[in-house]
Amino acid sequence: MKLMNYFICACLAITTLAACNNTATVKETVAIKAAISKQDWGETDGTKVDLYTLVNTKGSTVKITTYGGIVTSFVTADKSGNTSSIVIGFDSLSGYLAKPPYFGALIGRYGNRIGNATFTLDGKEYKLAANDGKNHLHGGVKGFDKVVWTGTVISDTLPALTLTYVSKDGEEGYPGNLKVIVQYTLTNEDELKIEYTAETDKATPVNLTNHSYFNLSGDVNNTILSHTLMIDANNYTPVDSTLIPTGEIKVVKGTPFDFTSPKAIGAEIDSVKGGYDHNWVLNRKGSILQKVAVLADTASGRSLEVYTTEPGLQFYTGNFLDGKLVNRDGKAIQQHTALCLETQHFPDSPNKPAFPSTILQPGQQYHTVTVYKVVLKN
Ligand code: GLA
Repeated sequence: MKLMNYFICACLAITTLAACNNTATVKETVAIKAAISKQDWGETDGTKVDLYTLVNTKGSTVKITTYGGIVTSFVTADKSGNTSSIVIGFDSLSGYLAKPPYFGALIGRYGNRIGNATFTLDGKEYKLAANDGKNHLHGGVKGFDKVVWTGTVISDTLPALTLTYVSKDGEEGYPGNLKVIVQYTLTNEDELKIEYTAETDKATPVNLTNHSYFNLSGDVNNTILSHTLMIDANNYTPVDSTLIPTGEIKVVKGTPFDFTSPKAIGAEIDSVKGGYDHNWVLNRKGSILQKVAVLADTASGRSLEVYTTEPGLQFYTGNFLDGKLVNRDGKAIQQHTALCLETQHFPDSPNKPAFPSTILQPGQQYHTVTVYKVVLKN
C-alpha cells in the first residue's frame, strides 16, 4: 500500500514536470518516502513465503524474499536515469525453487567449500554432505539458501528487515543449535547493508555470506568482462583442481590475480583456468568496516563499492553459468554475464589451522557487516 502511494506520488510529480516543461519556469522535486512493504510470494513444503520491497528516498528498491533470504532485485538508476536491476534474478518463487546456483541467497552455515566434506573439531570428526564432487559447498544439500527465514520489519518507514533462522544441532552434519539473524537495510545513499549475527550452544564452524550476482549494466546481454574491478588485496589463496585452497597465501603482483589497481575483468581472465573463482586475502586490518573492492561499468555510469569487516573476498566470474537459466527479462544468463563478490572467511578454514578461525564458541557472538554501495558517475 505504501509502495502504491509512492508510485501515485511519483507519477503525479512526473506529470507535473512534463506539463511545466514548456514554460520551463517551475521546478518540482519528487518527494519519495523511504518505506518497506510485504507481499505473499507463495509457499514451499507448506510454509508461506513473503517478498519484502525496500524503497529509499532516491526511489531505488531492493526486493528480498524470506525463501533463502534471497535478494531478488536491486533496482537503481543509471547515468541516463533509466532504472534496472544490478543483480540477476527472478520475479517469482518458482524460479528459485528450481535451485539456481545460489542467486542472491544467504549462504550458511559455511560459505564456500570444506575439503572432503569433513572437519575435526575438539577431537571429533564431522561428516558433511559431499554436494560438490567430494567436497562440501555452501552449507550442504539444504543450506541457508533453501530454507524459509522469519522476516520482521523494524519500522514501516525504515527500509530495514531482519531475517531469523535457527539451524538445529546436526543439521547438514554441523554441531550445535545455531541462531542466525541477518539484517538487511537499504540506506538513502543506495547502500545495501547486510549485518550477520549468530550464536551457538556447541562449537561450530560459521561463515555467512550473500551470493548476489552483479551485472552493473542491468542487462545480461552484456558480459561483465568490460567491468573494471579493484580489490584491495596483495594476496590470494590458490586452489587445487577441486577449488579447495592449497593452504598457501600467494602474492598477486605480476599475476592475473592482481586487481590492486582497477583492471578490466576480461583483461587476463583467459590465463586463469575456468575463470576467476578464488578467495582474495584482503589488506584490511583490525575489525572495522573498510572499503575492499570497487566494481565499475562506464557504459551505465554505475560503480559498486564493497565494504566489509571480513578478511576474505570470493570473486567468482559466473564461470558455471551456461545460458540454461533465464533472467527476469527473458534473456538467457550466459557464462560471465554476472559476477559475485562474496565477503567471507577463507574456504576450508576448518581444515587449515593457519587461516583465520571460523569456529564460533558458545557464549561468543558472531558478528560481521558487509555493505554494497551503488555510486553513479557520469
Ligand atoms: C561460489 C563458488 C563457485 C560456485 C558458485 C556457485 O562462488 O566458489 O565455485 O560453486 O559459488 O555456482
